[in-house]
Amino acid sequence: MAQKVQKAIFPVAGLGTRFLPATKSIPKEIMTLVDRPLIQYAIDEARDAGIDEFIFVTARGKTSLEDYFDNAPDLENRLKQDGKDKLLDALIQTNMDSGAIAYIRQKEALGLGHAVWCARRLVANQPVAVILTDDIIQTDGKSGLAQMIEAHNEVGGNIVAAMEVEGPAISSYGVIDPESQNGSIIKAKGLVEKPDAKDAPSNFAVIGRYILEPEIFTVLEGAKKGAGGEIQLTDAIDHLARTKGNVHGYCFKGTRYDCGSKSGYLEATIAHGLLNPELRDELTAYIKKIAAEI
Ligand code: UTP
Repeated sequence: MAQKVQKAIFPVAGLGTRFLPATKSIPKEIMTLVDRPLIQYAIDEARDAGIDEFIFVTARGKTSLEDYFDNAPDLENRLKQDGKDKLLDALIQTNMDSGAIAYIRQKEALGLGHAVWCARRLVANQPVAVILTDDIIQTDGKSGLAQMIEAHNEVGGNIVAAMEVEGPAISSYGVIDPESQNGSIIKAKGLVEKPDAKDAPSNFAVIGRYILEPEIFTVLEGAKKGAGGEIQLTDAIDHLARTKGNVHGYCFKGTRYDCGSKSGYLEATIAHGLLNPELRDELTAYIKKIAAEI
């Protein structure tokens, strides 16, 4: 049985340029799907998977993220007085226990690999999950990360979340070079970051969930810049696949929304609106109305 995964890294130090000017003063992770910020979805997924230590790699301008997880006594008292128990419940869900959450700074946005490396001292010698809040995974049962932890218990080593992507869109992702496949689990002989579509070794794209063994930090220590001039996490995982042969892709059951892009964010907003019993009927009627007019 693989060592238990108890910690998760949330790299939130990116510049979020695709959402400028909104992200000039609002961290992308605070943008909401209906009534919850993206970061809350990521935290709920991690909790569902049994994670109890949360490490945020942050940057300048992200203090509202830290505040989001604090107590809000004035607001809580007011909701208590007004008997708004449901709202109070939702608010209290956002409070994190003292010491459960740690913040570490990435001084400069040098890439996802560099952001993960910044958390090395807080992780020490155990496997760690990495969750990118841009990627929302909606499932009908176990969360995306909980499914990956099950796969980790089965095969150990390093696991990346995988999803099949058809056509030229594959060139926007890290892509698995597969050696073999057993059901939902793909053994990788390598990974390539944003290949030209014609050179993509498969249509298995890597999306923003990882379970990584601590050896990743040694690889990241000497990492050079890769695609886009950034220190890429994909390149470090590729190194492990090639030298240790201990990297697997896991095809999760669920729907993934790319909330790092405007269209993906809008799709996620509509999908989560439709999932909300208070909004479903009104929203459905509206969608039907405008669809008829287009
Ligand atoms: P993205 O590639 O989406 O970059 O990062 P970004 O800066 O967030 O957004 P755009 O592309 O400029 O619009 C993927 C994840 O890695 C984190 C981001 O915060 C995001 O969660 N990241 C990226 C860092 O923490 N540090 C970095 O240097 C780069």
